[in-house]
Amino acid sequence: MCWILTSSTSSHSSTNAGAALSEEAMDVELDRAMSEHYAEGRRGMRSFTATALLVAIAAGVALLPAWLPARRVLGVGIETTLPLTTISALSIVHAAIAFRRVGAHGRWYRAAEQLESLCSVSCGAALIYFSGSATSVFWIYFLLFVADAWNNPRDAKICIAMYSVATTALAAAFALREASADVAVTASLGVLGAVCIYVFAASAKHRLRGEAERRVLRSRLERLLVERERDRIARDLHDGVAADLSTLLWRARELKEAVAGIGDGQATSIVDDLVNDARSSLDELREVVFALRVSGGKWDEFLAELRTRVTRLCAGSLRCEIAIHDDETAPMVPVDVRVHILRIVQEGVRNAVRHARAQVVRVEIERGARIVIRVSDDGEGIPDDALSTSRGGLSNIAKRARILGGEASWSRNGGTELVVTLPLAA
Ligand SMILES: Nc1ncnc2c1ncn2[C@@H]1O[C@H](COP(=O)(O)OP(=O)(O)OP(=O)(O)O)[C@@H](O)[C@H]1O
Ligand SMILES: [Mg+2]
Repeated sequence: MCWILTSSTSSHSSTNAGAALSEEAMDVELDRAMSEHYAEGRRGMRSFTATALLVAIAAGVALLPAWLPARRVLGVGIETTLPLTTISALSIVHAAIAFRRVGAHGRWYRAAEQLESLCSVSCGAALIYFSGSATSVFWIYFLLFVADAWNNPRDAKICIAMYSVATTALAAAFALREASADVAVTASLGVLGAVCIYVFAASAKHRLRGEAERRVLRSRLERLLVERERDRIARDLHDGVAADLSTLLWRARELKEAVAGIGDGQATSIVDDLVNDARSSLDELREVVFALRVSGGKWDEFLAELRTRVTRLCAGSLRCEIAIHDDETAPMVPVDVRVHILRIVQEGVRNAVRHARAQVVRVEIERGARIVIRVSDDGEGIPDDALSTSRGGLSNIAKRARILGGEASWSRNGGTELVVTLPLAA
């Protein structure tokens, strides 16, 4: 007898779940593409050569006013350029060290990068202000800042905010000096720069979204092709080889009856072996066909098949209860994982039927952020050394769990409880 209890925690239909999944997959891919693009951009910028070049530029800017004609053009002396460019250079070196230590995605590096941006915009703004004119070559500091938006589309808002605050402060400082032409130039360059940052970042994001979409589509197409091929192989095996084997089995049974009539003991035993071999080959082949179909079909169909198989295993020996807790908003169970789940449950139930002397076996499958499989019985309990001495079922369960990055454990609690936990990638 079999009790089938099913509970579902979702209000989504399966179609909606599929659509949500595709949006989710896109977001994950986009995020990945942006991270890779960002890390790639940083690698060049934080190399030893690039850092040395930036520091050399800062040193050049700092020392340039020592040459009188340059001092006249720049409008500031070495006493102004030296401290400001030193701050800027130190922030560049600090960011390069952080990058080497923790990589592009480390928290230290991200903080060092923001600090570097802050230093370069404020030092740039201060240099422009002290140069006495908004038409200063020190805008070069801001140019580098703008160009970098191409590499980091995710942080574009922070860039725009920093740039806008710095240029607004600069325009305000010129306004206090009543230099209206400089206010106009600063405001224009401020707006132009903010627009450039926005456009560069948006265009980089657009390109990366295209790349992410291509990647998702390619992986879906590959999966579709694999599923179609699996289905074709399963059909061919079922309709061809399995049908032929089934005929062979049927003919062997006829032969067995004929030989039994003759009464030749040796011939009867050979034909018996033949019938048994044909039957077990047919069973094995059906298992192969089933595994191919299970991994290509829908999750609901898989659960229905699992129920049928567990019920069949228990039939006539003990009562079985099956409970499915299925959160339909949870990540889909990859096709290759389903075959493992089925084999784990089958082996757990088969062991309860064969070894436990139990009255009841209970199977629970829970799909949420991860998959939890429980097979428990009320039998005499598993021996302590069963897993370490197992060369078959138990060790296979443990291996399957390990392959999928999960774990399996057995406990004795008024019987035996097997718990297998498998992670589900979002
Ligand atoms: N639910 C259970 N209750 C009691 N004993 C169990 C249970 N499951 C396993 N065992 C014990 O653990 C041993 C090892 O089990 P395992 O599944 O590895 O091998 P098996 O069932 O004997 O053979 P096979 O390789 O065909 O599975 C069993 O022989 C049995 O003594
Ligand atoms: Mg076993």
